[in-house]
Amino acid sequence: MNKSLIKAHTSKAVREAVFAYKSKNKTIALVPTMGALHAGHISLIEVAKQHADRVICSIFVNPKQFGKNEDLESYPSTLQADCEALEQAGVDLVFIPTVQEMYPKGFQTCVSVAEISTYLCGHSRPGHFDGVTTVVSKLLLIVQPDTAIFGAKDFQQLLVIKQMVQDLNIPTNIISAPTQRAKDGLALSSRNQYLSPQDRKRAPLIYQTLQSTAQTLREGSPLDQALKNAAKALTKNGFVIDYIEARDATNLKPITGPLYQKGETPPQSAQLLCAVKLGQTRLIDNIPI
Ligand code: PAF
Repeated sequence: MNKSLIKAHTSKAVREAVFAYKSKNKTIALVPTMGALHAGHISLIEVAKQHADRVICSIFVNPKQFGKNEDLESYPSTLQADCEALEQAGVDLVFIPTVQEMYPKGFQTCVSVAEISTYLCGHSRPGHFDGVTTVVSKLLLIVQPDTAIFGAKDFQQLLVIKQMVQDLNIPTNIISAPTQRAKDGLALSSRNQYLSPQDRKRAPLIYQTLQSTAQTLREGSPLDQALKNAAKALTKNGFVIDYIEARDATNLKPITGPLYQKGETPPQSAQLLCAVKLGQTRLIDNIPI
């Protein structure tokens, strides 16, 4: 039988539960989310269960990480179904704070990771990662988990958070969980539900293009040409490209020099990342090269 899920709405209630877990020497894993849960989130919970005795999940649509013209107002909310899914998945406690609880009147602090937050999505969504690192640092301080799990689909977010945790000596182990995909290859995302049926049919081309581009790079194609071809293939099919780039997989710095000489191992680990718009929906994906 599934354990019953505790619902906490205040940081005080979370602290009390955490204190009780820790006094019984239980380890804790945190899975931060913005709700509208899908199989990708459940896979994060499965990873969390492998790493800790107790799993805490947070559901908070963080206004600080949305830009002025972004989808904060329309962001999907399925709280009741989310709680049922979390209970089913064996989560011990869900933290569902209000905006007022997280950012009470007079809130003044911003946690900002300087360089890596400015690349790629940070360039097209100024302030986005400051919002992410501010809320994630608060969640880590409230829950004080041994481990926190983040999906590799948000590859830049994962690296930004790892950098923050390292820089601030936060005693939480950050673990990445692999991207979950629909059968046709589309990376699972709460935003997929915005897609029209026609755009949903086209969306798997993102992953297909990443795969074929990575393959041509492994075969020795020049980087510039391969990326141009990828952008062209997507544009021709109605995607608006924000970026498609190969970056150093450890720090997202631009790749300099040849990636692969035919038949040789690459000089650095590289990741192929893209952000595109299909209609009004912004989708991101990435794979290792
Ligand atoms: O990846 C997300 O859903 C969010 O950016 C996160 C990590 C929960 C912070 O709001």
